[in-house]
Amino acid sequence: MDCNKRPDTMERITTPELAVAFIEEQVAAVREQVGDKKVLLALSGGVDSSVVAALLIKAIGKQLVCVHVNHGLMRKGESEQVVEVFRNQLDANLIYIDATDRFLDKLVDVEEPETKRKIIGGEFVRVFEEEARKLEGISFLAQGTIYPDILESDGVKAHHNVGGLPEDMQFEGLVEPVKLLYKDEVRVVGKALGLPVSMVDRQPFPGPGLGVRCTGAITRDRLHSLRESDAILREEFDNAGLTDKVWQFFTVVPDFRSTGVRDGKRVFDWPVIIRAVNTVDAMTATVPEIDYAVLKKITDRILAEVPNVCRVLYDLSPKGPATIEWE
Ligand code: XMP
Repeated sequence: MDCNKRPDTMERITTPELAVAFIEEQVAAVREQVGDKKVLLALSGGVDSSVVAALLIKAIGKQLVCVHVNHGLMRKGESEQVVEVFRNQLDANLIYIDATDRFLDKLVDVEEPETKRKIIGGEFVRVFEEEARKLEGISFLAQGTIYPDILESDGVKAHHNVGGLPEDMQFEGLVEPVKLLYKDEVRVVGKALGLPVSMVDRQPFPGPGLGVRCTGAITRDRLHSLRESDAILREEFDNAGLTDKVWQFFTVVPDFRSTGVRDGKRVFDWPVIIRAVNTVDAMTATVPEIDYAVLKKITDRILAEVPNVCRVLYDLSPKGPATIEWE
């Protein structure tokens, strides 16, 4: 039997009861596979790796070593949530690495989007690898592979995935407990494992993170404006009940400035662009009609609270011709 093929008889996991049965089955399978050996997992804080981490903590506790690399391009509060949930609440064996300076230093003056992606992806592998080499006695590598990754492994998604390990790092085997699940099933399993809804129902967040939303050469001041404006957008969409209704939303800070006036003086500051889209498969996307009062409140807050910003825009462009991300 091809263990990478979902059996036709496998029931879709749609309820907490089915999720609990799946979890019990996987806990037993993982214990059987790894025995008393150690397992390493790159925990990004995304849905898939978080669910795998929670499942493996249940199965093998501290035999799991999680490594969270903060590349400095996370959304506000994201790395903190990973530490809070996994180290403080689930008592996981978690190594937290703040590699912000390392990533941002490598990205200085790099303007081209695909080069930025390559640098972020490559550096991620190097940081994770360095950490893995320091650890002793790791036998298995766990991964948050899900079924669409297997179906799409013809390369379509390859440039989208940050991570992976150099081929010379040898493990006895891979632990991929959710590899036959679709995304919606992974979310049901995550909830049954007790992970916070904000983590399990997270909208897609690109591997290169805020790096592709701080267009052109990333600078720390624009990155700060981006992170703060994104947090305001999320808060206000949440207040307006839009979080579950809009598929993906974020802000962008482009690398051009415009004239503004503040305290009677001319300024030359950044614009913030609000991007919100609805889609089924991310191949095409439409732009939702957001209530004017919500947009106005977000605009007022960004202009008042975020430094170096004098203009806020709402991007009305559907995909295509525009892509969802700005880079
Ligand atoms: P585009 O911009 O191509 O985005 O319309 C489609 C979806 O893919 C996400 N995206 C990425 N995800 N690494 C990722 O993991 C990437 O480099 C990347 N670029 C785009 C984007 O957020 C949207 O959901």
